[in-house]
Amino acid sequence: MMAQHRHATILWGHSRLMVLLFIIILHFVMCSCKSDAEILLKFKESLKDNGALSNWNDTKPPCSGYNENWVGIICGNGTVSGVKLENMGLAGVIDVDALKELKILRTISLMNNKFDGSLPNITELGALKSIYLSDNQFSGAIPIGIFDGMLSLKKVHLARNKFSGEIPQSLITLPRLRELMLQDNEFEGEIPQFRNGMLKSFNVSDNELTGEIPRGLSHMNATSFSGNEGLCGAPLESCSPAKLSVGTIIIVMILVALAIAALTSVVVILYRRKQMLEQEQATVSPPGHRKAYSTDLDIMEQGGASPEHRTNGKKRDNNTKLTFLQDDREKFDMGYLLKASAEILGSGIFGSTYKASLSGGQAMAVKRFRHMNNVGKEEFHEHMRRLGRMSHQNVLPIVAFYYRKEEKLLVSEYMENISLAVHLHGNTSRGLPCPDWPTRLNIIKGVAKGLLYLNNELPSLMAPHGHLKSSNILLDRSFNPLLTDYGLVPVMNQDRAQEHMIAYKSPEYKNNGRITKKTDVWSLGMLILETMTGIFPSSFLQQGSKRNDMDLVSWVESVVKEANADVDQVFDKNMGGKQKSEREMMKLLQIGLNCCEAEVDKRWDLKQAAERIEQVKQKDNDNDQEYNSIRLSN
Ligand SMILES: *[C@@H]1O[C@H](CO)[C@@H](O)[C@H](O)[C@H]1NC(C)=O
Ligand SMILES: *[C@@H]1O[C@H](CO)[C@@H](O)[C@H](O)[C@H]1NC(C)=O
Ligand SMILES: *[C@@H]1O[C@H](CO)[C@@H](O)[C@H](O)[C@H]1NC(C)=O
Ligand SMILES: *[C@@H]1O[C@H](CO)[C@@H](O)[C@H](O)[C@H]1NC(C)=O
Ligand SMILES: *[C@@H]1O[C@H](CO)[C@@H](O)[C@H](O)[C@H]1NC(C)=O
Repeated sequence: MMAQHRHATILWGHSRLMVLLFIIILHFVMCSCKSDAEILLKFKESLKDNGALSNWNDTKPPCSGYNENWVGIICGNGTVSGVKLENMGLAGVIDVDALKELKILRTISLMNNKFDGSLPNITELGALKSIYLSDNQFSGAIPIGIFDGMLSLKKVHLARNKFSGEIPQSLITLPRLRELMLQDNEFEGEIPQFRNGMLKSFNVSDNELTGEIPRGLSHMNATSFSGNEGLCGAPLESCSPAKLSVGTIIIVMILVALAIAALTSVVVILYRRKQMLEQEQATVSPPGHRKAYSTDLDIMEQGGASPEHRTNGKKRDNNTKLTFLQDDREKFDMGYLLKASAEILGSGIFGSTYKASLSGGQAMAVKRFRHMNNVGKEEFHEHMRRLGRMSHQNVLPIVAFYYRKEEKLLVSEYMENISLAVHLHGNTSRGLPCPDWPTRLNIIKGVAKGLLYLNNELPSLMAPHGHLKSSNILLDRSFNPLLTDYGLVPVMNQDRAQEHMIAYKSPEYKNNGRITKKTDVWSLGMLILETMTGIFPSSFLQQGSKRNDMDLVSWVESVVKEANADVDQVFDKNMGGKQKSEREMMKLLQIGLNCCEAEVDKRWDLKQAAERIEQVKQKDNDNDQEYNSIRLSN
C-alpha cells in the first residue's frame, strides 16, 4: 500500500516534470520569440530607400539604453512602443506581419515619406492608439472594416494622400477616436454618422464628399469641410429643402453637368478666339477663363492630362491662379503666361525652364518643378512667401508661383545672359562670349554676397541655398550674378533632394549622412574651382554615378601643391589675365580649395569665406582699384 503510494507520487512527479519540459519545448518551437531588434530589422528589410535607418543595428538592442542606434524608435516599459519614421524618403512595403510581433506597439508614424499603394492591413495591429500616415502617396479605397476591433485607436491621420472611395464605416465604431484627419484626398460619398461629441479634431476638407453633414459633426469648424463641392448642412449652408427623389437628383445632376460641359466648351472656344484676335493682356478674368488655363497647362505637359483635370469644380479653379509675391509688379495671369511664346531654356532633374514674353516686352522665366511635395499646401505657401521677401542685388526674386499637387511653377524675371554654366561650358562655336578673369572674379564675389545674405535671412535652413551650381547662377545684361533655386531643400521630396541636390553631394552627406551650416561653403568652393578651371565637376556630368566629387578638388590640389608646379594647366585658357593677375588668381583658387575642405570642422564658415573672397583683387599689386568696366574676351 505504502510502496504503491510512493510509486504513484514518483510517477506523478515525473509526469509533472515532463509536462513542464514539454511546455518549455513547445514555447521554443511554437513561439517565434524574436527580439525587438530582429523584428525591427525584419520590418526594415521590406522598405526601400531606407538609408535614413542605416544606424539600426542589432548589436545593441533597442530600448536598452542605447537608443542612439535606433533612430525613430519610441520605448515604453523597456520595449518598443512606437515607430516614428517621418520625413525620411522611405518607400516600399510596410511589413505589418513584422510589426504585429511588437506586443505593445501603440504608435506608428510614417508621415511625409513616399509610400504608395493601398493602406496596409492595420487591423492586425490591434493595440494601436495612433496612426499617422499623412503626406504620402497612398491611394485606392480603404476596406470598410479595416478599423474593426481597434478599440484603443485615438488618432488617425491620413491627410494629403490619394485615398479614394468612401470613408470607412468602421471608424464610427471606435469608442476612443478623438482625431481624424482625412483632408486633401479623393474620398467620395457621404460622411459616416459620427456621434455627437466623439471627435475633438476632424478634417475632411478638399475631398469629393457629398450629402448632408451628420448632425454629430455640426459643431465642427466649417473649414473642416471646405473644398467638398457636394457637402451641405451645418456648419455649411443648409441643404436645399426640395424633396426630390434620388433618381430625380441624379437626372438633374447629369443634365446640369452636360449643360456646364457644353457651356464651358463654348466659352473656351469664344475665349480662345478673342485671345487670338486681340493679343492684349487680360488682368480681369472673363468667365470660363480658368478652364482655359488648365487646358493650356495640359498642352504644356505635352498631352499628359492628369485625372484631376478631368473632374471640374471650384476647388480646382482656386488652384489655377498665380500667387504673386511681389506687390510692385505688373500682374499677369497664368493663361497669359502659358500662351506667351514659350521657349524652352533647359531641362533639369526637377523639371524644365521656359522663357515667356509678356505683352510689354518683358520676359519671364518659368521653372516647372515636380517632386516638390515635401510639405502641404499651406506650408508651401508660407515658405514661398518667405522666399518672396528676399531682396538683394545678387538674389533673383521669385515673382510669383503656381501651386498644384503634382507640379509647381516658379516665375521670375528672365536674365539675358542666362547662366554661368552656359558661358563656362557653352559651345564657343555658338559665339557665346567667355567671361574673362575680372568678370569671373566679380561673379564669385557676387555669389558670396548673395549666399551671405541668404544665410542671414533664412537662419532656420540648414543649407540656405542647398543647390548652388553654375546653372543656378544667372547673369544679367552686365554679367552680374543672381542666385536662383535657393531655399528649396525643405519643400522638395526628400528622396529626390538627396539624390540630386548639390548639398547632398557634399562630403559630409556622403560620410555622415547629414548636411550642415557649412555645406553651402563646400558648394561655393566647387563653384570657384569650376569657374577657374572651366571644368564641370565630374558628378554633374554623371548624375547619380558613384564617382567621387573630390576628383576636381584633388586634381587641382595635386597640381597646386607640386614644388615647381605648372599651374597654367589648371586655369581655364579662355579666362586670360595671366601676366597681370596670376597671384590673385592663385589666391582665389586656394580659397576654392579651402572651401572644399572635406572635414567640416576645418572648413571655413560662410562669413570667413566671403571675407577672403572680397580681399582678392583684380590685378596683382592692385591695391584698392575697383573695376570700372567688365570686358569679355572671346
Ligand atoms: C553594428 O555596430 C557594430 C559596432 O558599432 C559594427 O561592428 C557592426 O558591423 C554593425 N552591424 C550592422 C549590421 O550594421
Ligand atoms: C507601462 O506599464 C504600465 C503598467 O503596467 C502601464 O500602465 C503603461 O501603460 C505601460 N506603458 C506603455 C507605454 O505601454
Ligand atoms: C486584414 O487582417 C485581418 C486580421 O488578420 C483579416 O481578417 C483580414 O481579412 C485582412 N484584410 C485584408 C484586406 O487582407
Ligand atoms: C476654424 O479654424 C480656423 C483654422 O484652423 C481658425 O482660424 C478659425 O478661427 C476657426 N473658427 C472657429 C469658429 O473656430
Ligand atoms: C482643415 O484642413 C484644411 C486644409 O488643410 C485647412 O485649411 C483648415 O484650416 C483645416 N481646418 C481645421 C479646423 O483643422
